[in-house]
Amino acid sequence: MPIRSFVRRSGRVTYSQRRAMEKLWPNYGIELNGELDLSTLFGRSTEKHLEIGFGNGDALIAMAESHPEHDYIGVDVYTPGIGHLLIKIEAAQLTNVKVIQADAVEVLRNNLPSSCLDAIYLFFPDPWPKKRHHKRRLIQSNFVNLLAKRIKPGGKLHLATDWENYAQHMLAVLEAEPEFINYTNGFSQRPSERPLTKFEQRGLRLGHGIWDLLYKRC
Ligand SMILES: C[S@@+](CC[C@H](N)C(=O)[O-])C[C@H]1O[C@@H](n2cnc3c(N)ncnc32)[C@H](O)[C@@H]1O
Repeated sequence: MPIRSFVRRSGRVTYSQRRAMEKLWPNYGIELNGELDLSTLFGRSTEKHLEIGFGNGDALIAMAESHPEHDYIGVDVYTPGIGHLLIKIEAAQLTNVKVIQADAVEVLRNNLPSSCLDAIYLFFPDPWPKKRHHKRRLIQSNFVNLLAKRIKPGGKLHLATDWENYAQHMLAVLEAEPEFINYTNGFSQRPSERPLTKFEQRGLRLGHGIWDLLYKRC
């Protein structure tokens, strides 16, 4: 059994989220069946951005609304969040967002071709604070190497966390990956283009600090 970065939770799916999964999934959901051709999927050739672990999807919607000229793919496993995102995509009539419900590690490994993405975002991934759970953290050297393979040369990787210990771990793993170069000299302030996320607001309420990390693929 692989070590996963999430625990399968059914969570409470509201009536409207369940309805969205039935009615809207065919319009915005991506069914996985081998390698994806992202330009065919969106019907145009333009920048492709991936958000891993979008939660309720509000940051993804904000980015897609600010950049209608780019296409956005969100990947998460959590059904209530996916339902919430589908409702928001439909309400905003966005044609540049699509959704994958699967483990991002498998999607990156099996369904995305090399150098197909202009940016990958990973905002406030589960911190797994207990030491014995650190192996479940998404940011590990193998995964970071996989991210590098899927981003085009010159493309961007943007991470953020509200856990200092995870932030230090992220920095150490990223600095050891020769394919990425940090272009803000260590941690950065939240760039204005990154929307505030739900988990970030929770962290701020708890008095946590926020650490952003910005890398370019060499
Ligand atoms: C702590 S929440 C953060 C959500 C959002 N980014 C935010 O800042 O509000 C982490 C999210 O990552 C998702 N997640 C964890 N591991 C994942 C994986 N391997 N593949 C896809 N999604 C994953 C969880 O389901 C959850 O929605």
